[in-house]
Amino acid sequence: MAYDTSKWQQHINQGLADLDLPPVPATLYEPIRYMLALGGKRIRPLLTLMAADLFSISDIRHAIPAALAVELFHNFSLVHDDIMDEAPLRRGKPTVHKKWNANVAILSGDNLLIMAYGQLAKCPSDKLPSILETFNAMATHVCEGQQLDMDFERSPTVGINDYLHMIQLKTSVLLGAALKIGAVLGNASDVDAQYLYDFGVNVGIAFQLQDDLLDVYGDPEQFGKQRGGDILANKKTYLLLKALETADTETVSELHDWMKRSDQPQIKINRVTAIYNSLGIQQATETMKRFYATQAYAALDRIPCEKSRKLPLQTMAQHLLNRSN
Ligand code: IPE
Ligand code: IPE
Ligand code: MG
Ligand code: MG
Ligand code: MG
Repeated sequence: MAYDTSKWQQHINQGLADLDLPPVPATLYEPIRYMLALGGKRIRPLLTLMAADLFSISDIRHAIPAALAVELFHNFSLVHDDIMDEAPLRRGKPTVHKKWNANVAILSGDNLLIMAYGQLAKCPSDKLPSILETFNAMATHVCEGQQLDMDFERSPTVGINDYLHMIQLKTSVLLGAALKIGAVLGNASDVDAQYLYDFGVNVGIAFQLQDDLLDVYGDPEQFGKQRGGDILANKKTYLLLKALETADTETVSELHDWMKRSDQPQIKINRVTAIYNSLGIQQATETMKRFYATQAYAALDRIPCEKSRKLPLQTMAQHLLNRSN
C-alpha cells in the first residue's frame, strides 16, 4: 500500500521517544518527558510526512526531523498556551504549570522550542533556508495569534472576521507550514507547495472551529481538557461571537453580564451553553466548519497529481474535522 500511515506514526513516535534528554535538572526535563509521553494525536508531523510523500516516491524518512520539529513546536505552544489560558487539564492529565508551576512550564516550553530547532538543523542543507523561512514565519504568526487571543478576552469589540484572522494565526498556519515543509522536502514546485499550504490553512480554521465546539460540547473524558474552559476565560470563540450577533438585546446583555462574572463558574458554563443551544450556535458553527473544509478541498484539487494520491490527505482532514478528541 502506498500510504502506510501507521508505519509513519511509528517513525514519529520512535523519533520522539529517542530524543535524548538529560536526567538533570529534572525540573526542566521531566515536564518535557511528561508532555511528550502524553502523546496527543500527533497529526502535524503526520501531515509533514504525507506532504513529502505526495510529491516524492522516494523514502520519506528524510522528512522525519522536520516532522519532529513541527510536533516539538506544537508541544511548546501548548505548554505556554495552558499557562496563558489557566487550563488545568491537557490530554486528560494535569497541565505542566499545574503539576509543577508556571516558571517550570515557561522554561520547559522554551526548551521544547529549542529542541524543535535542533531537529530542523538536521534537514537537508539545500532545503534548510526555505524550511527555516516557512517555520519562522509560522512561529511569529502563532505568537501574534496567541497575543490576539489574549487581547480579545478583554476587548468588547471583537467581530467574527477578527476571530477568523486570530485563529488563522494561532492555529492554522502551523498546519499549513507542516504541509508546506513536507512539500519542500518532497521537491514540490513552489506553486504546489503553496496550494498545500492553503489546504492546511483552511483545514486549520475548520480544526479550530471544531476545537471551540468540543470545548463546549465535547466529552471531557475523550477531549482531555476542561469542559467550558473557553466560556470561563471569556474567549471570543466563534460560538460566543455568533451568539452575540444573533441574540436579542436582552440575551446579549445577559451574555455580557456573564462575561463580567467569575463567581459561579459552573452556572456560568451551563447558562451560556443554554443560550448557545437556544440560538442554534452548534449548527451555525458546523456550517462554518463545512465552508472551510470545502475551501480546503478546492485548494487540494488544484494540485496536478493523481486524485488517488490526494485521498489520504482528504480522509485525514475529514477525520480531523469530525473528531471527538
Ligand atoms: C490543540 O491541538 C491545540 C489547537 C490548535 C486546538 P491538538 O488537538 O492537535 O492537540 P493534541 O496534540 O492532539 O493534544
Ligand atoms: C490553541 O488554542 C492555539 C495554540 C496552542 C497555539 P486553544 O487555547 O483553543 O487550544 P487548546 O484548546 O487549549 O488546546
Ligand atoms: Mg488553550
Ligand atoms: Mg489558547
Ligand atoms: Mg481550545
